Amino acid sequence: MDAIFEAAEHIRQARYVTVLTGAGVSAESGVPTFRASDGLWEGHHIEDVATPEGFRRNPHLVWEFYNERRNKLKQVRPNPGHYALVELEKRFAERFTLVTQNVDGLHQQAGSNTVAELHGSLYRTRCTGCKDLRIHDLEPLGELPKCQKCDRLLRPDIVWFREELPKEVWQRAYLAAQACDVFLLIGTSAVVYPAAGLAQIARNRGPAGDEGATIIEFNLEETAVSNSVDLGVYGPSGVTLPKLIEQLSMNPS
Ligand code: OAD
Repeated sequence: MDAIFEAAEHIRQARYVTVLTGAGVSAESGVPTFRASDGLWEGHHIEDVATPEGFRRNPHLVWEFYNERRNKLKQVRPNPGHYALVELEKRFAERFTLVTQNVDGLHQQAGSNTVAELHGSLYRTRCTGCKDLRIHDLEPLGELPKCQKCDRLLRPDIVWFREELPKEVWQRAYLAAQACDVFLLIGTSAVVYPAAGLAQIARNRGPAGDEGATIIEFNLEETAVSNSVDLGVYGPSGVTLPKLIEQLSMNPS
């Protein structure tokens, strides 16, 4: 059976759908994914630009890196994959949760309402002193932006390596993984924990794991987790997700 057709069948029968997206869903919008083969993020070592130690060592470099990423977002728009997930949310309403590892705000820009941002957002800063959270447009924030309240150094509100996820957001994602009967892994290499563990939580839900959710992977290609999912749909998500919506609307339940 065609994988998209089969995915649509599972979704049609689902009571609650939870989605985890990763960088791949934004690839067709022009946002680079993380796991390039050289192990660098746009020429930088991850240790230098995405760890608290890197920020302490060289906040100039870290801000330069994030200001550049913020600046690039100005030219970026949601792609048909993002819009397809808005349609899925409309179909399931409160029986749907979109969890993302992305920090680019493209799901919200497309119109998704209930996005749980596990790894923070390029649109927000957090004060290293008073912890004040602030939402910004994509205007330049300066070389070393300071807090308006206490004048201490601001940092991007991004979860870096070796940092904990925001508790309230993780709680929402965890509950949604436990609640769903279909879990979609979309455009993620599913190797960064705890986000990647959500699929296992969904699979093991229920007293003895016997009510486990069906896990469906949408990715450009097979990944390290492909042999442990129930179904894989391979191809660009900007193409496969709209096809899925089309398939769902052909035979509305
Ligand atoms: P990765 O770069 O690890 O994986 C991107 C995935 O998207 C890969 O499996 C690609 O095959 C797939 N992909 C690429 N283009 C695609 C397309 N057009 N359609 C569908 N799939 C496509 O990105 P993430 O899994 O998001 O964390 O990485 C997870 C986390 O690692 C990130 O959130 C980031 C990073 O460390 C933090 O910054 C905390």
